[in-house]
Order: sequence, then C-alpha cells, then structure tokens
Amino acid sequence: MMFLLVCGLLLLVLGALLLYLWRAEAKIGVPWVPDSKSILFSQEPLPPPIPENSITSYALPLRTQGRNIIDQKGRRFKLHSVNWYGGSDELFVVGGLDVRHRNDIAATIRRMGFNSVRLPYADELVVANPVIPESLVAANPDLAGRRALDVFEAVTAALTDAGLAVIINNHITHATWCCGADPCDAAWYNGHLGPLCRIRQTEADWIRHWEEVMVRFVDNPFVIGADLRNEVRGFWGTMPWSKWAAAAEKAGNRLLRIRSDWLIIVGGTESNNDLSGVAERPVVLDVPHRVVYTAHVYAWSGWGSSEGRFSHREYASFVRTMRRNWAYLVEGDVAPVWVGEFGASNRPSVGGANYWQNLLRYLKAIDADFGYWAINPRKPKDDEKETYSLVEDNWSTPILDYRMKDMTEIMRA
Ligand SMILES: *[C@@H]1O[C@H](CO)[C@@H](O)[C@H](O)[C@H]1NC(C)=O
Repeated sequence: MMFLLVCGLLLLVLGALLLYLWRAEAKIGVPWVPDSKSILFSQEPLPPPIPENSITSYALPLRTQGRNIIDQKGRRFKLHSVNWYGGSDELFVVGGLDVRHRNDIAATIRRMGFNSVRLPYADELVVANPVIPESLVAANPDLAGRRALDVFEAVTAALTDAGLAVIINNHITHATWCCGADPCDAAWYNGHLGPLCRIRQTEADWIRHWEEVMVRFVDNPFVIGADLRNEVRGFWGTMPWSKWAAAAEKAGNRLLRIRSDWLIIVGGTESNNDLSGVAERPVVLDVPHRVVYTAHVYAWSGWGSSEGRFSHREYASFVRTMRRNWAYLVEGDVAPVWVGEFGASNRPSVGGANYWQNLLRYLKAIDADFGYWAINPRKPKDDEKETYSLVEDNWSTPILDYRMKDMTEIMRA
C-alpha cells in the first residue's frame, strides 16, 4: 500500500516536471517578432565600412598582448570576422563560386564591414585534392579544371586582395558538414579507430596536412593565422584539455617554423565550449605572443547543465557560463579569445533571439573578437537553404536584419 502511494507520488512529480519542461520549451519556441530598431535598420542602406578597420591599415605582423591582438605600433586589431564555408564539406570548395566571381564575394564581405574571414578546410581536401567540377566554379571560369587546394588558395588570395585578413581553419577530417556523432571526426587524430574510418590519420598526418596548406600562404601577410582544429571533443566529454593543448603546441611550433609570425589559434574542448583548462595549463609555443584562443557559442550550447541551454538563460546565468568557459581570459587580460563561431536564424524563435541578445550584449560589454557563422546562403549538401545566411542567393545583396544590425553597431563602435 505504502509502495503504491510512493509510486503514485513519484509519477505525479514526474508528470508535473514534464509539463513544466514542455511549457518552458513551448514558450521559447514561438517566433520572435523583430523590434522596431531592427525593422528600421533593414530599411536603411548599410553604412560604408570603416577603412581603419581593414588589415591594410595595420603595421604587420600582429602579435598578442594580454587580451588583445595588436600590431607593431601597439594598435589593436580586433577580429570582426565571418565564416565562409564549403572547403571542409562534400564539394571541397567554398559556396558561391558558381554564382559570383570570388573577387565580388570578397568585396561584398568587405562592404558589409567585416575585416577578416575564417576559411575552413577538411583533411580530406588535402589528401584527395580532387579537380573541382566546372559547374561549381561557373562564375570563376579561370578556376575551371583546377584542384581543390588551388581553388582554396585562389579564394584566399581574393579575400586578402580585397583587404581582408584570413584565418585558415582545419575543420574536420572527412569532407562533410561538421559536427556529427562520427567518432572518426571528433578529434585531430583517428588512427586508433583503425579501419572504422574512411580517412585515417595520425597526429603526424594532421600536422603534415597543415604544413601542406600553410606553405602556400608564406608570402601573404594578410593570412594572419591558423585555427588548428574545429570543435575538438571526446565521447561524452572525455577529451582532456592537456592532451589537446600538447597536440596544439606540436602543430603550432611546426607551423611557426614555416613562418614565425602567424597567430596560432586554439579552441576549447567540448566542441570549442570549454577553455577553463587554460588557467592551469596554457598553450605555450616556441615563439612568444602567438596564441589566440577561440570559443564557439550557440543557442543550444549549455545543454545538460542545470541552468539549461543558452536559449533559455537569463543574462546573468549566461554570463556566468561565458566567464567560466572562456571569458575569464579576456576579462583578466590573460589572452585573446576569438568567438570564432556563433550565429542565428534570420527568423529566430524567442529562445534564439534571447540567446543572440545575451551574447551580443556580452560581446559588446567585453569588446571581444568575433566570427559569425556564416555568410553562405546554401549548404553544400542538397543545396539546402541556410537560415543563418547573411546574403541572398545571388551572393551580392546583404540580408539586413537584427543580426547585421547588432554586428554593424559593434563593428562601427
Ligand atoms: C540579389 O537578390 C536580391 C533578393 O532577391 C535582389 O533584391 C537583388 O536585386 C539581387 N541583386 C543582384 C545584384 O542581382
């Protein structure tokens, strides 16, 4: 009898909890109504970019000083970046080259106010280096018949010629959308998994691929750095920071032997969420003042914690987690942290807009370096519409909504 009573009570509590969670989800799941400032912004022409923000106006090379990236005169170069993806995906080529010439796309990125681009590649691009089908570079006839690495280099040159800085990023091992559950892509090495992985690579292979890519940019001073690996993670949070930090030092030092003034960019474990280990165990390279850390922040991050996903959080709770995960490095003037990936839909839910507003408010408050994910209007696979896009399908017209409004405010501050 007692037993049945306890069971009944437990069921009641469980039911109430489920109802509460369901209500909370429903509340943040409804579409967000843009505020009047965002609507006003979308009706005005985009202001021209500020020339002083361009890498062309800096005394290179760059280095770090405390929380900032600075030039030879001590002037801060703040990363206002955007990601341009495709080089790490199935087609081995950035999106848009079938629609616009790369010089036009570079000019559009510059016109939108960004001063730098994060350009991902997959190890498979280096290993396979296939000829890119002509249809994928239709608006770049000079690239017809060229291989993936040559196209990657040409795109990089187009960006730097337009006065943009470029950060190269090793995104994933297999050329596909990152980051699924495939253990073959979870870290910079997968050799221990044996024949399970189509592309097998050791740590040494990963570093060799890096060298093969970066050697192409030795003479391009606007290629400012190498973002060593995207979203390193282990099964269920089992990637030790110390293991990744040691690998990052090895790769970083090897690249610095090719060119000693590149910035070496190191993401946190737990898919670039967690840089808390840096306090005890910083990444130390042979060349001083080269290390920049990078964090990724999305609406769904924070899942599994008692405070919930970022889409649910109040500002105070969100900031607490930012500080614990990475921002203590910035606020304590220890090292620069570039928020190299974050983004939201053009039509967000209330929760998505809440995450965005908290993040942008905090980026503004601590004056952080950032990189929006991503400019592309289409995903490579099945040409699916990309709701995070910042340009229309013609790769020419910027989408002017709350996202560009908030980033423009920061870039012009
Ligand atoms: C690009 O597409 C947008 C939206 O469809 C359109 O308004 C604009 O005129 C187009 N621009 C060019 C240069 O084709």
